[in-house]
Amino acid sequence: MKIKGVLLLAGLLSMLNVKAQVLETITLPTAQKTGGMPLMEAFQLRKSQRSFSSKELTTQQISNLLWSAYGINRPEGFRTVPAAKNWFEYDIYLLKSDGWFLYEVRKHALLKMGNEDLRIFGGTQDFVKAAPVILVYVADFGRMNDTTDELRKFFSAVDVGYISQNVYLWCASEGLATIILGQVDKIKVREVLKLRPDQQVILSQPVAFPGQ
Ligand SMILES: Cc1cc2nc3c(=O)[nH]c(=O)nc-3n(C[C@H](O)[C@H](O)[C@H](O)COP(=O)(O)O)c2cc1C
Repeated sequence: MKIKGVLLLAGLLSMLNVKAQVLETITLPTAQKTGGMPLMEAFQLRKSQRSFSSKELTTQQISNLLWSAYGINRPEGFRTVPAAKNWFEYDIYLLKSDGWFLYEVRKHALLKMGNEDLRIFGGTQDFVKAAPVILVYVADFGRMNDTTDELRKFFSAVDVGYISQNVYLWCASEGLATIILGQVDKIKVREVLKLRPDQQVILSQPVAFPGQ
């Protein structure tokens, strides 16, 4: 009985802890799932860009971007990307001028986690911080059960490739600029995003209107 009580209290405290971090839930408009550029043209235009305008993306663009990256596209809850062992281990954080957010896939919503502009931590190269949106791909190794650390690293590295390529193709279709980045101070990002020990910062990806 005593142990049950302690477990219940610990559970409640951890729920409170999670809830306390969410400042606001912002429901995104439904993503536009028709239209866009023909796929072959998007392949032709896909490229990495390193010059960004600071012009803000619209909420609809952010919705479309996140759905393309990692959204649900079937009633069973499967996504626009495949995922090793159905772990779907990624959390996508968004760094913006008005704060930092976590993409809540099931609700297709943004959870505001803080008011700080953390874009300076989105990559160590100078051009990065001009982007209005920087996606940070965080793999939760705690979700990758019954495997080895070697396979956790391998599968998370593979899975992020699908997500980031979807973002590349969506950006090509939308006339936006992007680049996938390994040059990220992962220790610092883990600290500022207040990540749990199991959460690993893998890569980041700014998205912006092209610069001059
Ligand atoms: C896993 C990965 C990490 C990368 N990290 C960086 C980076 O930190 N900084 C950078 O400027 N480019 C980075 N790139 C972009 C590559 O330099 C770029 O994809 C390559 O030059 C080919 O150019 P393209 O994407 O325009 O075809 C990275 C690419 C990959 C696949």
